[in-house]
Amino acid sequence: MSERKTGIWFIGAWGGVATTSVVGLVALQKEIAPLTGLVSELPLFQNVPLAGWSEFVVGGHEVRQIGFLNAAQELVEKSNLFSADLLSAVAPVLEEFDANVKQGTLINVGSMIEKISCDDAKKQIGETPAVALKRIQSDIEQFRSNHQLDQVIVVNLASTEPAMDLSSVPETWSELDAILQSSDTSPIPASSLYAIAAFKAGCAFVNFTPSIASELPAVIELAETRKVAHCGRDGKTGETLLKSVLAPMFAARNLQVLSWVGHNIFGNMDGIVLNDPENKATKVHSKAHLLSDILGYDLQSLVSIEYIESLGDWKTAWDHIHFEGFLNTKMTLQLTWQGSDSILAAPLVLDLIRLSELQQRLGRSGIQEHLACFFKSPMGTTTPEFALQFELLKQWVEEVTQ
Ligand SMILES: NC(=O)c1ccc[n+]([C@@H]2O[C@H](COP(=O)([O-])OP(=O)(O)OC[C@H]3O[C@@H](n4cnc5c(N)ncnc54)[C@H](O)[C@@H]3O)[C@@H](O)[C@H]2O)c1
Repeated sequence: MSERKTGIWFIGAWGGVATTSVVGLVALQKEIAPLTGLVSELPLFQNVPLAGWSEFVVGGHEVRQIGFLNAAQELVEKSNLFSADLLSAVAPVLEEFDANVKQGTLINVGSMIEKISCDDAKKQIGETPAVALKRIQSDIEQFRSNHQLDQVIVVNLASTEPAMDLSSVPETWSELDAILQSSDTSPIPASSLYAIAAFKAGCAFVNFTPSIASELPAVIELAETRKVAHCGRDGKTGETLLKSVLAPMFAARNLQVLSWVGHNIFGNMDGIVLNDPENKATKVHSKAHLLSDILGYDLQSLVSIEYIESLGDWKTAWDHIHFEGFLNTKMTLQLTWQGSDSILAAPLVLDLIRLSELQQRLGRSGIQEHLACFFKSPMGTTTPEFALQFELLKQWVEEVTQ
């Protein structure tokens, strides 16, 4: 039994993915959940000294008032994600974790996220970036000291932010810091403020969303000087995972992909936020660049994301792939992917937490390129093919078990 204690700090704590991750974590702690879907439970990791499930405690930031238990109940009622029996077994721990959730910031999150947030969160509108940073950092540090944690891993699971013009953001930490300390308004979005606060508190950071977060030169520099590990961006759970597996097949067989059309429909809260054209643009960009990166040429591709309320957390993606083979003959592959967004994402979130915790514990800071296979737009690597990304993870396993 491990004596370490590790904190998980979710930004967007009461959202679908974070809540499912917490339900799953507590079920694993109680040994009432199977290990299916967890990459870190593959035989590959048998000799890797990853944290045990029992050592984790959860807290986080939110901008809505709902609570883990209510959020989980909603996932059961609307989307039938897990059984009511499982939920009642984990309920007391979910309620304990609720006490660790604090008010987040709405700085530069866009009007759609402001609209879904609660009155208490809206009261913070207008706070300066310096005040927000201090508050966020102190919430994380308080959580660490209250629970006597060895480490805290901060995971961004907040709603996707609209893209901001970041062209005038300075590239060095000292210049950005000076602006953040002296200005009334912030030149960077909330996701980046959360990453900065995490780094200042000495925490590893995982960005599971398409928002920019730690992927700014000045923030990358801060992570290096604070010697913390970070990774992102945008968890690769469904349609893009398939693209990163299938596109290399077309490339390896010298088949010319002419067009790739993907229509996505789903009805959870992420879908409501992504229904806003500005927030949707960030997600579509994250999904769209992969094909030309893998195939090496431009092709007509279309990604649509539509909110269909009745589907709840269940996403359907239809892909229509038109390609040309020998003697100019045109052919088609069509596929349908139906999956629960949160059930696909939650185990990967738990894997990323364990892998980041070990990286940090081993004193290996900076961007974690070896986690590329978990992300749609992986930081620190230009390798878009899933199989090659998974090789990076295998190499890391070899390094840390030598
Ligand atoms: N399969 C997947 O579900 C998947 C895959 C890849 C990426 N993602 C990304 O993960 C994120 C979470 O997805 P979800 O389905 O849980 O969404 P969700 O809408 O259910 O949850 C997001 C939560 O973030 C909270 N939030 C928004 N802005 C915040 C802020 N500034 N500070 C603190 N909390 C804030 C919201 O109140 C909400 O509870 C989204 O950005 C999504 O695009 C999800």
